[in-house]
This record gives sequence, structure tokens and C-alpha cells, in this order.
Amino acid sequence: MLLLLLLLFKKILCHGPSTVVLYGPLPLFHTFLMVISLSATQVLGPHHPAAEEPLSFRMLQISSFANHSWAHTQGSGWLGELQTHRWDNALGTIRFLWPWSQGNFSKEELKHIQALLQLYFHSFPLEVQAFSSQFQFEYPFELQISFGCRMHSGKASGNFLNGAYQGSDFLSFQGNSWKPSPGAGSRAQNVCNELNHYRVIKEIVQSLLIDTCPRYLAGLRESGKSELERQVKPEAWVSKGSSPGPGRLLLVCHVSGFHPKHVWVMWMRGEQEQSGTQQGEVLPNADRTWYLRVTLNVAAEEAVGLTCRVKHSSLGGHDIIIHWDGYPILLICICLAVLVTLVILVVINSWFKKQSSNQNICPPHVSKPIFPTEANIQEPSNSGSFLCLAQKLWIKNRLQKK
Ligand SMILES: *[C@@H]1O[C@H](CO)[C@@H](O)[C@H](O)[C@H]1NC(C)=O
Ligand SMILES: *[C@@H]1O[C@H](CO)[C@@H](O)[C@H](O)[C@H]1NC(C)=O
Repeated sequence: MLLLLLLLFKKILCHGPSTVVLYGPLPLFHTFLMVISLSATQVLGPHHPAAEEPLSFRMLQISSFANHSWAHTQGSGWLGELQTHRWDNALGTIRFLWPWSQGNFSKEELKHIQALLQLYFHSFPLEVQAFSSQFQFEYPFELQISFGCRMHSGKASGNFLNGAYQGSDFLSFQGNSWKPSPGAGSRAQNVCNELNHYRVIKEIVQSLLIDTCPRYLAGLRESGKSELERQVKPEAWVSKGSSPGPGRLLLVCHVSGFHPKHVWVMWMRGEQEQSGTQQGEVLPNADRTWYLRVTLNVAAEEAVGLTCRVKHSSLGGHDIIIHWDGYPILLICICLAVLVTLVILVVINSWFKKQSSNQNICPPHVSKPIFPTEANIQEPSNSGSFLCLAQKLWIKNRLQKK
């Protein structure tokens, strides 16, 4: 069976370009999920164009095995954090999720890759089921594979093929052979020993990792440039978190709605970064933007004067600065001012209403001056409002001054 598969793979590979992308033609085994942290660049300056940052293309496979006769596999392709491909199990085809998801590969090369994937996704579960007792896989189980490559500043900067069994690291492909993950035990060692017998498979995997994947990634980076470099400005706000203890405050700075993912957020006193600042994980919003929560645990009296500072490529050097105490006080002042003004207006208005109803609205003679000026209104009026009265007073004063 294994031999047959090898021959098939060889046949496909010999017919097409000698390279293939997407899941490696790894007939037996199982897999892994490696979370590739692209956020390792968290310390980079904020104004680097996205193209300068590390970028990866990876294929993820998740295969669930319920019992000896039931298995389900999901396959997907990811450019950095963005899903670009999906494997359609029903049709046995690659679904390109963006108009640019084909990168710069020709139709023909993509067809070969698709043919290889059809074979792979068909045989993978069968092989795993066939070897499950030899490898001591216990139903139900889940296998995950992450396979791909990275580039940095326009150059290929590494590749990876990792497998996980039941959610834990299981094995990887290093150099030109299969290696069990530390702590994965003798089961992983057995699987690797078995896999390492197949030289042709190792060569194919190597070629995919070293040649096909970097070329595909380079093409995708170009074709998907506008999406990758899409700039969306963050919004930021601060709030109080649940109290970390008596006399202490948890200051929370929320930053949301930004793209690309890389962002710098810090609690500051003036220009001084606060070393106790805790960064959360950058989480996805539903609209392909990102959210980050950054906290600082301080003594209550030390919160005054702290600011949350946000640097992001979309801000073009104009950092967002949110004052912990500043904005609330400003807001309180504005609210108070508005409130006081309203109260004064209401009082004045009702006072004038009272006056006018007593005196029949803009009365011909106002006995008492309303303003500290003389107020002898001559003509009658039916307008009746305090404005009317004030206007007449003003006109009268003007006339008298002349
Ligand atoms: C295998 O698992 C599937 C899905 O859970 C279930 O529907 C099916 O009945 C199971 N078959 C056997 C033989 O246990
Ligand atoms: C796609 O673009 C990359 C980088 O621009 C290049 O190395 C590669 O040769 C191009 N074409 C193919 C078919 O890989």
C-alpha cells in the first residue's frame, strides 16, 4: 500500500513541475498543529511597512478519527493570519478564497498540486487507520499538521512541518528526517522510525518545504499585497479592571479595530514606559481587524498622570495617547458646565415667564428694571418672551446712549 502510494506520488511529481505546495505527500502518519507566532515581532518599531515583517504561508490539516471506519479531515491554507485556501472535501478541489489566492503559479502547476492533494486526502485517513494499532493510536483521536515556510524582508527565512497527536506536539521534519517531539514518548519515536525508511517521501517533503513553498509565498505576498498592507486605524479607550487588591487599581487600555496586527501599546508616565505593563494576546475581531488589552496594576494614588500610548503603522507617527485621569476630569468639567448652564437658563426662563404673565407679556411699562439698566419699555408687544423683553431693553439702551 505504502509502496503503491509512493509510486503514485512519484508519477505525479515526475509529470508536473517537480514541486508541489500544500500538504506534503505524507502518506502515513498524522500530525500536528504548531502555532506559529508571527507576533514575535512585537518589539519592532511601529512604522515598519508590513512587507518588512516576517510572513508565513502554512497549510493546516485537522483530521479526526472517531473509530476504525469514520474519519474527517479539514484542510486550509493561511498567509500570515489570513485564510487564503480551503480544501473542499466533497469536490476534491482547492477553494481559493481570494482573487489573488493563486499567487503567481500557473493553472497547470496548481492542477498538479490539486491532484496530489486529492490523492493525499484520500489516502491519509486510510493509512492512519491501517497503522493505528501498530502506532498505538487510541480512538477517538485527532491529528493535526502544520506545514509551511516563512520569509523576512523578501527572503526565505525558514520552514516547518509539525505534527500533533491529541493536541500535543508529536513529531516534526528537521533537515531531511522525521524527529519525535521532546516528551512525545516512544510512540512518536516508533512513528518516526517507520517514516524515516521512506527516502522518496522525505525528498518530496524537502522539496515542498525548500522550493515550492517559498516560491508560492513570494508570489502570494505580491498578489495579496494590498490586503496584507491594508491600514485601519485603532480606537483606544481606558477602563478600570476588577480590583487587584485593597488600595490598588487595575488600569485597562483597550485598543481595537486596527490592521495590520502589529501594534505597540504601553502604559506611560510622561515619556517613561511602565515596566509593569501587561500585554494580552492580540485577538481577532470579526471584521478582519484586531483587538488588544493592555493592563497595569498600580497603587490607587499612583494612577494619576498615567497615559496609555498606542503606536501603529496606520497612525503615521501620530501616537494615540489616552490619559487615565485627564479625560474623565475634562468630561466631568464639560458635563458640569453644560448642566450649570442648563439650570441657569431654566431658572431665568421660568423667572421671565412669571414676570411676563404677571405683566401681560412685554408690557408697556415695566416698573422694575430687569437688567441693571433702566427699563422703561414704551410700546406694547404681544411676543411675550424673555428674548423680546431683552431685545427691547437693548434697543432702548442704544437709543438712550445716542
Ligand atoms: C464511528 O463513528 C461515527 C461518528 O461518531 C458513528 O456515526 C459510527 O456509528 C461509528 N461506527 C462504528 C462502527 O462504531
Ligand atoms: C513567483 O514569484 C516569485 C517571487 O517573485 C518567483 O521567485 C517565482 O519564480 C515566480 N513564479 C513561479 C512560477 O514560482
